[in-house]
Amino acid sequence: MTTTAIAPTNIAILKYWGKNPAWEEYLIPTKSSISFTVDKLFTRTTIEAKPRGGAKPGIQFTLNGGRITPSMKEYEYVEDFLERVGAFFPFVRNYDYRIASENNFPTSAGFASSASGFAAMVKAMAGEIPEFSPIMDDDAKLSAIARLGSGSATRSIPSHGGVVLWERGVEFDLRDPQKQSSRMTKAAIEKAIFSSCARTVFAPDHWPELSIMYVKVKTEEKKVKSRPGMKASVDTNPLYQAWVDYEEAIVREQMLGAIRNRDFAFLSELIMKASNNLHQICFGTYPPLVYLNSTSVDIIRAVHALNEGGVKAAYTFDAGPNAVVFALGKDSPEVEGTLEGIVGKGNVTATRVGNGSRLSSDHLF
Ligand code: DP6
Repeated sequence: MTTTAIAPTNIAILKYWGKNPAWEEYLIPTKSSISFTVDKLFTRTTIEAKPRGGAKPGIQFTLNGGRITPSMKEYEYVEDFLERVGAFFPFVRNYDYRIASENNFPTSAGFASSASGFAAMVKAMAGEIPEFSPIMDDDAKLSAIARLGSGSATRSIPSHGGVVLWERGVEFDLRDPQKQSSRMTKAAIEKAIFSSCARTVFAPDHWPELSIMYVKVKTEEKKVKSRPGMKASVDTNPLYQAWVDYEEAIVREQMLGAIRNRDFAFLSELIMKASNNLHQICFGTYPPLVYLNSTSVDIIRAVHALNEGGVKAAYTFDAGPNAVVFALGKDSPEVEGTLEGIVGKGNVTATRVGNGSRLSSDHLF
């Protein structure tokens, strides 16, 4: 059999940046995060699982039509992921896998693909492997499994998409680390692992006027990847715990409230502050992590200039110079025009809030 799934990318407005050191190998985050599920930008993945032939699972993997060989880092990511999942669902080790994955957006366009990639892989695996059928529609469980591949993939699973909340599940306190101890029972570990999961809080039709613009910024710089970058922040930024506590206790509820009330002005302020505070955490990391460049700063200034007479737009930046800008339908042509003035036509992709992961009958092989 073969099974195909589609999973969208997502853009965080309350950021995930750091793993709880006691639970690092399971990618449990230090704090909760909130994202919009993005329509139009997605990964399609087809999987065939056949009873295993060799001593360990064989993996045949193509990404965007190109073969991924065992020496490549994408291969290693998938192998590590299967190993982690195998610790809880040993039957995944009983298969050989043929996997084909395609993004409908160019990987080089600077949009994150690990979120949609691992989410599509998990959804397709759940449909393909018979032993997974009891949890096939269990978004909470599947999102926790996707997290074992990449943190941000957790938020691309919930099938209703829309606004997604990823609960950290496990408390984080650097001053009093709750060490995952060898004395913990397997059941207690499992409980913790599945408590860090995502769910839809507002479906896409809650706020259909919301426009999401991906803004591609040119860059030549080599950056520190998210995974080592966030670890350095947890380890070296003296304000890290304060940031986590503040966002967890205050911003999370403010954001959900602003979305519930469709209060664009307040939400925009919260989104921009949360982005700026992530980059403040990055800059306070030692050695500092600088992900924004001068074009990113031009975008920040332009958005604040647009907002002078009343809020029209909000920006957010992940671990790179590209921006994602939010606007309401009535203002989006003006906002899009301003952004194109900075990065050039063709570098702004407008989309909206969409659905989450789903199976598809359109197979890649
Ligand atoms: C800045 O999910 O790529 O985009 O869990 O180590 O695979 P790993 O990291 P990843 O980190 C994403 C960080 C971010 C913020 C976010 O999406 O919340």
